[in-house]
Amino acid sequence: MSDVGFGTGKVVVNRAMSLDGFIAGPDHAMDWIGEYLTPADVPEVMAATGAMLIGRGTYEVARRMEPQDNTYDGGARFVLTHEPPADPAPAFTFLTCGLEEAVATARGAADGKNLEILGADVAAQCLRHGLVDEILVYVLPLLLGDGVRFSPPGLGRIDLEPFSSTRSGAVTTLRFRVRK
Ligand SMILES: NC(=O)c1ccc[n+]([C@@H]2O[C@H](COP(=O)([O-])OP(=O)(O)OC[C@H]3O[C@@H](n4cnc5c(N)ncnc54)[C@H](OP(=O)(O)O)[C@@H]3O)[C@@H](O)[C@H]2O)c1
Repeated sequence: MSDVGFGTGKVVVNRAMSLDGFIAGPDHAMDWIGEYLTPADVPEVMAATGAMLIGRGTYEVARRMEPQDNTYDGGARFVLTHEPPADPAPAFTFLTCGLEEAVATARGAADGKNLEILGADVAAQCLRHGLVDEILVYVLPLLLGDGVRFSPPGLGRIDLEPFSSTRSGAVTTLRFRVRK
């Protein structure tokens, strides 16, 4: 666990990824994920999740995707940003505090369940600051060739301990503990 006082909930970086390491295609394309994976495919992960923390980049892409992909129920949704939008979507809480305070706030809202960290930049910062317990990756069977990488350059080395590897249909799910 990355901390005490949050029940058994973990901080989990969770994302779908192409085999060549992209979490979004060119121009933030995300349609390829729905071809292989929908929220209905991951009921246990969804049920274990009490809150989500995303960056403003992920929020903006999600807004562009509406209404295709709003069925994932991972509890309270927090967006870390330097400046909240003028017309915020009602289902999101915008945080302008520091990273660690944002994670603590979202973990509190998760109420003992897991906190999912989505997107590239915020997740990388959480990894860099030792705030992440696990990484869960859905490896999808395609090569995107270009787009948003799993992590931005400069993250540095982080050692992981694999503890689960499963395949269901076309989707391979890999889970790792972050070594601290
Ligand atoms: N494949 C998947 O499972 C998956 C899941 C989620 C997202 N994605 C994709 O990932 C891409 C988005 O990634 P991204 O790299 O843009 O990262 P992101 O983490 O979603 O958003 C980055 C933005 O968050 C804000 N931010 C980051 N750190 C902050 C801090 N410490 N304090 C305040 N604000 C902070 C900044 O926005 P401001 O400066 O504007 O405030 C920053 O530009 C999208 O293409 C999305 O579709 C893929």
